[in-house]
Amino acid sequence: MGGLSLRRLRRSPALRALAREVTLAPDKFIQPLFVVEGLREREPVNGLAGVYRETPESLAAQVERDLDAGIDKFLLFGVPRTPRERDFDHGFTAGQVGALRARLGRAAWLAVDVCLCAHTVHGHCGVLDEAREHVDNGATVAELALAARAYAGAGADCVAPSDMMDGRIGAIRAALDAGGHEAVAIMSYAAKFHSGFYGPFRTAAGATPRGSGALADRATYQIDPARARDARLSAERDAAEGADILMVKPGLPYLDVLKELAASIPRPWAVYQTSGEQAALELLAREGLGDAARLQLETWTAFQRAGAQAIISYAARRARALIDRAAGG
Ligand code: PBG
Ligand code: ZN
Repeated sequence: MGGLSLRRLRRSPALRALAREVTLAPDKFIQPLFVVEGLREREPVNGLAGVYRETPESLAAQVERDLDAGIDKFLLFGVPRTPRERDFDHGFTAGQVGALRARLGRAAWLAVDVCLCAHTVHGHCGVLDEAREHVDNGATVAELALAARAYAGAGADCVAPSDMMDGRIGAIRAALDAGGHEAVAIMSYAAKFHSGFYGPFRTAAGATPRGSGALADRATYQIDPARARDARLSAERDAAEGADILMVKPGLPYLDVLKELAASIPRPWAVYQTSGEQAALELLAREGLGDAARLQLETWTAFQRAGAQAIISYAARRARALIDRAAGG
Protein backbone atom coordinates (compact mmCIF):
# COMPACT_ATOMS: atom_id res chain seq x y z
CA MET A 1 0.00 0.00 0.00
CA GLY A 2 1.38 3.40 -0.97
CA GLY A 3 0.86 6.63 0.89
CA LEU A 4 2.43 8.00 3.99
CA SER A 5 3.06 5.58 6.84
CA LEU A 6 3.41 7.36 10.12
CA ARG A 7 3.22 4.11 12.05
CA ARG A 8 6.40 2.55 10.54
CA LEU A 9 8.54 4.98 12.53
CA ARG A 10 6.61 4.24 15.72
CA ARG A 11 7.18 0.49 15.65
CA SER A 12 10.27 0.26 17.84
CA PRO A 13 11.78 2.19 20.75
CA ALA A 14 14.91 2.65 18.61
CA LEU A 15 13.08 4.36 15.78
CA ARG A 16 11.00 6.46 18.16
CA ALA A 17 14.18 7.65 19.89
CA LEU A 18 15.84 8.52 16.59
CA ALA A 19 12.79 10.38 15.35
CA ARG A 20 12.30 12.49 18.45
CA GLU A 21 12.76 16.23 18.06
CA VAL A 22 12.92 16.95 21.78
CA THR A 23 15.30 15.35 24.29
CA LEU A 24 15.09 16.36 27.94
CA ALA A 25 18.29 16.73 29.96
CA PRO A 26 18.76 17.49 33.68
CA ASP A 27 21.10 20.39 32.93
CA LYS A 28 18.18 22.42 31.55
CA PHE A 29 16.36 22.51 34.89
CA ILE A 30 16.21 25.05 37.72
CA GLN A 31 14.91 24.06 41.16
CA PRO A 32 13.08 26.70 43.25
CA LEU A 33 13.99 26.86 46.96
CA PHE A 34 12.29 28.61 49.88
CA VAL A 35 14.16 29.66 52.99
CA VAL A 36 12.33 31.19 55.94
CA GLU A 37 13.90 33.39 58.61
CA GLY A 38 13.35 32.19 62.15
CA LEU A 39 11.79 28.86 61.14
CA ARG A 40 12.75 26.07 63.54
CA GLU A 41 11.86 23.01 61.53
CA ARG A 42 11.34 22.75 57.80
CA GLU A 43 7.72 22.50 56.65
CA PRO A 44 6.30 20.73 53.59
CA VAL A 45 4.59 23.05 51.09
CA ASN A 46 1.01 22.01 50.64
CA GLY A 47 0.43 20.66 47.13
CA LEU A 48 4.09 20.30 46.07
CA ALA A 49 5.67 16.91 46.74
CA GLY A 50 9.20 17.11 48.11
CA VAL A 51 9.19 20.92 48.39
CA TYR A 52 9.78 22.55 51.78
CA ARG A 53 9.94 25.89 53.46
CA GLU A 54 13.54 25.35 54.53
CA THR A 55 15.15 26.66 57.66
CA PRO A 56 18.51 28.41 57.36
CA GLU A 57 19.98 25.16 58.72
CA SER A 58 18.13 22.74 56.42
CA LEU A 59 18.66 24.70 53.19
CA ALA A 60 22.25 23.73 52.41
CA ALA A 61 21.63 20.05 53.11
CA GLN A 62 18.73 20.08 50.65
CA VAL A 63 20.89 21.74 48.02
CA GLU A 64 23.57 19.10 48.57
CA ARG A 65 21.02 16.34 48.05
CA ASP A 66 19.88 18.08 44.86
CA LEU A 67 23.46 18.27 43.59
CA ASP A 68 23.75 14.54 44.22
CA ALA A 69 20.54 14.07 42.23
CA GLY A 70 22.09 15.86 39.25
CA ILE A 71 20.48 19.30 39.66
CA ASP A 72 22.88 22.21 40.07
CA LYS A 73 20.77 25.29 39.24
CA PHE A 74 18.52 26.96 41.77
CA LEU A 75 16.12 29.86 42.21
CA LEU A 76 16.09 31.03 45.82
CA PHE A 77 13.14 32.75 47.52
CA GLY A 78 14.00 34.30 50.87
CA VAL A 79 11.20 34.91 53.35
CA PRO A 80 12.15 37.43 56.07
CA ARG A 81 10.61 37.20 59.52
CA THR A 82 9.18 40.71 59.88
CA PRO A 83 6.90 42.18 57.20
CA ARG A 84 7.30 45.94 56.65
CA GLU A 85 5.74 48.88 54.81
CA ARG A 86 9.09 50.15 53.50
CA ASP A 87 12.79 50.30 54.47
CA PHE A 88 13.16 46.60 53.85
CA ASP A 89 16.02 44.54 55.11
CA HIS A 90 17.54 42.37 52.39
CA GLY A 91 20.12 41.02 54.79
CA PHE A 92 18.41 37.74 55.58
CA THR A 93 18.24 36.57 51.97
CA ALA A 94 21.70 37.97 51.20
CA GLY A 95 23.04 36.08 54.21
CA GLN A 96 21.55 32.84 52.93
CA VAL A 97 23.15 33.40 49.54
CA GLY A 98 26.50 34.01 51.20
CA ALA A 99 26.17 30.90 53.36
CA LEU A 100 25.37 28.70 50.37
CA ARG A 101 28.27 30.17 48.46
CA ALA A 102 30.68 29.63 51.34
CA ARG A 103 29.59 26.02 51.72
CA LEU A 104 29.30 24.99 48.07
CA GLY A 105 31.58 27.31 46.14
CA ARG A 106 30.54 27.44 42.49
CA ALA A 107 29.14 23.91 42.46
CA ALA A 108 25.65 25.39 42.51
CA TRP A 109 24.41 28.09 40.10
CA LEU A 110 22.29 30.38 42.17
CA ALA A 111 19.60 32.75 40.94
CA VAL A 112 17.79 34.82 43.57
CA ASP A 113 14.24 36.09 43.28
CA VAL A 114 13.98 39.87 43.56
CA CYS A 115 10.59 41.04 44.74
CA LEU A 116 8.96 42.62 47.79
CA CYS A 117 5.80 40.51 48.24
CA ALA A 118 7.43 38.26 50.86
CA HIS A 119 8.57 41.43 52.69
CA THR A 120 5.48 43.66 52.66
CA VAL A 121 2.72 43.68 55.29
CA HIS A 122 0.09 43.66 52.51
CA GLY A 123 1.70 40.98 50.32
CA HIS A 124 1.94 43.19 47.23
CA CYS A 125 5.06 43.13 45.08
CA GLY A 126 5.95 46.73 45.85
CA VAL A 127 5.77 49.77 48.08
CA LEU A 128 2.42 51.58 48.37
CA ASP A 129 1.91 55.27 47.64
CA GLU A 130 1.12 57.79 50.39
CA ALA A 131 -2.63 57.18 50.12
CA ARG A 132 -2.04 53.41 50.32
CA GLU A 133 -4.18 52.91 47.24
CA HIS A 134 -1.62 51.86 44.62
CA VAL A 135 1.71 50.15 44.25
CA ASP A 136 4.19 52.99 43.67
CA ASN A 137 6.34 52.14 40.65
CA GLY A 138 9.31 54.42 41.28
CA ALA A 139 9.71 53.68 44.98
CA THR A 140 9.42 49.97 44.28
CA VAL A 141 12.03 49.97 41.52
CA ALA A 142 14.50 51.81 43.77
CA GLU A 143 14.03 49.19 46.49
CA LEU A 144 14.33 46.28 44.03
CA ALA A 145 17.65 47.66 42.79
CA LEU A 146 18.95 47.72 46.37
CA ALA A 147 17.85 44.11 46.88
CA ALA A 148 19.49 42.97 43.64
CA ARG A 149 22.73 44.67 44.57
CA ALA A 150 22.70 43.04 48.01
CA TYR A 151 22.16 39.56 46.56
CA ALA A 152 24.85 40.08 43.92
CA GLY A 153 27.23 41.30 46.61
CA ALA A 154 26.57 38.11 48.58
CA GLY A 155 27.52 35.96 45.60
CA ALA A 156 24.38 35.35 43.50
CA ASP A 157 25.06 34.29 39.90
CA CYS A 158 21.79 35.76 38.73
CA VAL A 159 18.96 37.94 40.00
CA ALA A 160 15.39 37.30 38.92
CA PRO A 161 12.95 40.20 39.35
CA SER A 162 9.37 38.88 39.56
CA ASP A 163 7.58 42.12 40.52
CA MET A 164 6.42 43.42 37.08
CA MET A 165 7.13 47.11 37.71
CA ASP A 166 8.01 49.31 34.72
CA GLY A 167 11.70 50.05 34.26
CA ARG A 168 13.05 47.62 36.83
CA ILE A 169 15.45 45.80 34.54
CA GLY A 170 17.29 48.96 33.55
CA ALA A 171 17.49 50.13 37.15
CA ILE A 172 18.74 46.76 38.38
CA ARG A 173 21.32 46.50 35.59
CA ALA A 174 22.61 49.98 36.42
CA ALA A 175 22.80 49.17 40.14
CA LEU A 176 24.63 45.90 39.49
CA ASP A 177 27.14 47.54 37.17
CA ALA A 178 27.72 50.42 39.58
CA GLY A 179 28.42 47.86 42.30
CA GLY A 180 31.01 46.05 40.19
CA HIS A 181 28.69 43.12 39.44
CA GLU A 182 28.90 43.20 35.64
CA ALA A 183 29.07 39.40 35.55
CA VAL A 184 25.80 38.87 37.42
CA ALA A 185 22.99 37.94 35.02
CA ILE A 186 19.39 39.11 35.08
CA MET A 187 16.59 36.64 34.42
CA SER A 188 13.47 38.69 33.86
CA TYR A 189 9.97 37.49 34.52
CA ALA A 190 9.14 39.35 31.32
CA ALA A 191 5.97 37.51 30.31
CA LYS A 192 4.42 36.98 33.72
CA PHE A 193 0.66 36.78 33.64
CA HIS A 194 -1.98 37.62 36.24
CA SER A 195 -2.69 33.97 36.88
CA GLY A 196 -4.67 31.73 39.18
CA PHE A 197 -1.86 29.15 39.07
CA TYR A 198 0.24 30.69 41.87
CA GLY A 199 -1.65 29.30 44.86
CA PRO A 200 0.80 27.02 46.70
CA PHE A 201 3.65 29.50 46.18
CA ARG A 202 1.78 32.25 47.97
CA THR A 203 1.37 30.19 51.11
CA ALA A 204 4.97 28.99 50.92
CA ALA A 205 6.39 32.51 50.56
CA GLY A 206 3.83 34.33 52.72
CA ALA A 207 3.07 36.46 49.66
CA THR A 208 -0.71 36.64 49.33
CA PRO A 209 -1.89 40.12 48.29
CA ARG A 210 -4.39 41.69 50.69
CA GLY A 211 -6.45 44.80 50.11
CA SER A 212 -9.38 46.26 48.20
CA GLY A 213 -9.79 48.22 45.00
CA ALA A 214 -6.50 48.33 43.10
CA LEU A 215 -4.94 46.29 45.89
CA ALA A 216 -7.41 43.38 45.78
CA ASP A 217 -5.04 41.39 43.54
CA ARG A 218 -2.03 41.85 41.25
CA ALA A 219 -4.04 42.89 38.18
CA THR A 220 -2.53 46.40 38.10
CA TYR A 221 0.99 45.08 37.54
CA GLN A 222 0.88 41.57 36.07
CA ILE A 223 -0.07 40.88 32.42
CA ASP A 224 -3.74 40.32 31.59
CA PRO A 225 -4.17 36.74 30.25
CA ALA A 226 -6.24 38.19 27.42
CA ARG A 227 -3.45 40.55 26.29
CA ALA A 228 -0.65 38.41 24.92
CA ARG A 229 0.78 41.37 22.99
CA ASP A 230 1.78 42.93 26.31
CA ALA A 231 4.04 39.93 26.81
CA ARG A 232 5.88 40.80 23.61
CA LEU A 233 6.19 44.46 24.54
CA SER A 234 7.40 43.54 28.00
CA ALA A 235 9.94 41.04 26.67
CA GLU A 236 11.30 43.43 24.03
CA ARG A 237 11.60 46.19 26.61
CA ASP A 238 13.30 43.98 29.19
CA ALA A 239 15.77 42.68 26.60
CA ALA A 240 16.55 46.26 25.57
CA GLU A 241 17.07 47.24 29.23
CA GLY A 242 19.59 44.45 29.70
CA ALA A 243 17.79 41.25 30.66
CA ASP A 244 19.94 38.21 29.82
CA ILE A 245 17.30 35.50 30.16
CA LEU A 246 13.60 36.04 29.53
CA MET A 247 10.80 34.03 31.08
CA VAL A 248 7.23 33.00 30.39
CA LYS A 249 5.10 32.21 33.43
CA PRO A 250 2.96 30.15 33.96
CA GLY A 251 3.89 27.48 31.41
CA LEU A 252 1.11 25.30 30.04
CA PRO A 253 -1.61 27.99 29.71
CA TYR A 254 0.87 30.22 27.84
CA LEU A 255 2.59 27.83 25.42
CA ASP A 256 1.38 29.99 22.54
CA VAL A 257 3.19 33.00 24.02
CA LEU A 258 6.33 30.97 24.64
CA LYS A 259 6.38 29.58 21.13
CA GLU A 260 5.90 32.93 19.45
CA LEU A 261 8.32 34.92 21.59
CA ALA A 262 11.07 32.31 21.72
CA ALA A 263 10.97 32.05 17.92
CA SER A 264 11.27 35.78 17.37
CA ILE A 265 13.35 37.16 20.27
CA PRO A 266 16.80 35.54 20.14
CA ARG A 267 17.48 35.39 23.87
CA PRO A 268 17.50 32.32 26.10
CA TRP A 269 13.92 31.65 27.17
CA ALA A 270 12.98 30.07 30.46
CA VAL A 271 9.55 28.80 31.38
CA TYR A 272 8.22 28.66 34.93
CA GLN A 273 6.01 25.64 35.64
CA THR A 274 4.26 27.36 38.51
CA SER A 275 3.16 25.98 41.85
CA GLY A 276 -0.49 25.71 40.78
CA GLU A 277 0.43 23.88 37.59
CA GLN A 278 2.61 21.46 39.54
CA ALA A 279 -0.06 20.89 42.18
CA ALA A 280 -2.62 20.15 39.45
CA LEU A 281 -0.42 17.36 38.07
CA GLU A 282 0.12 15.91 41.51
CA LEU A 283 -3.60 16.01 42.31
CA LEU A 284 -4.41 14.11 39.11
CA ALA A 285 -1.90 11.44 40.05
CA ARG A 286 -3.06 11.26 43.66
CA GLU A 287 -6.66 10.76 42.53
CA GLY A 288 -5.52 7.87 40.34
CA LEU A 289 -6.42 9.85 37.23
CA GLY A 290 -2.95 9.98 35.70
CA ASP A 291 0.61 8.73 36.08
CA ALA A 292 2.80 11.27 37.87
CA ALA A 293 5.95 10.55 35.86
CA ARG A 294 4.22 10.66 32.50
CA LEU A 295 2.37 13.86 33.29
CA GLN A 296 5.58 15.51 34.40
CA LEU A 297 7.62 14.46 31.37
CA GLU A 298 4.86 15.35 28.93
CA THR A 299 4.60 18.91 30.27
CA TRP A 300 8.39 19.35 30.17
CA THR A 301 8.48 18.03 26.60
CA ALA A 302 5.80 20.55 25.67
CA PHE A 303 7.89 23.40 27.12
CA GLN A 304 10.95 22.41 25.17
CA ARG A 305 8.94 21.82 22.00
CA ALA A 306 7.48 25.31 22.31
CA GLY A 307 10.98 26.79 22.46
CA ALA A 308 12.11 26.97 26.09
CA GLN A 309 15.83 26.56 26.71
CA ALA A 310 15.41 26.36 30.50
CA ILE A 311 12.68 24.92 32.72
CA ILE A 312 11.96 26.09 36.26
CA SER A 313 10.07 23.30 37.97
CA TYR A 314 9.28 22.28 41.54
CA ALA A 315 9.97 18.71 40.36
CA ALA A 316 13.39 19.57 38.89
CA ARG A 317 15.06 17.51 41.61
CA ARG A 318 13.29 14.45 40.21
CA ALA A 319 14.18 15.26 36.59
CA ARG A 320 17.20 13.00 36.20
CA ALA A 321 15.42 10.01 37.73
CA LEU A 322 12.31 10.56 35.60
CA ILE A 323 14.29 11.09 32.39
CA ASP A 324 16.52 8.06 33.01
CA ARG A 325 13.58 5.83 33.84
CA ALA A 326 11.69 6.87 30.71
CA ALA A 327 14.76 6.24 28.53
CA GLY A 328 15.37 2.85 30.10
CA GLY A 329 11.79 1.65 29.91
C1 PBG B 1 5.68 36.87 43.31
C2 PBG B 1 5.97 35.57 42.69
C3 PBG B 1 5.04 34.63 42.30
C4 PBG B 1 5.73 33.57 41.79
C5 PBG B 1 7.09 33.87 41.85
N1 PBG B 1 7.23 35.12 42.41
C6 PBG B 1 3.57 34.57 42.40
C7 PBG B 1 2.77 35.79 42.42
O1 PBG B 1 2.93 36.64 41.55
O2 PBG B 1 1.99 35.88 43.35
C8 PBG B 1 5.06 32.34 41.23
C9 PBG B 1 5.58 31.08 41.67
C10 PBG B 1 4.67 29.92 41.59
O3 PBG B 1 3.43 29.95 41.63
O4 PBG B 1 5.26 28.86 41.51
N2 PBG B 1 6.48 37.91 42.89
ZN1 ZN C 1 6.17 39.59 44.25
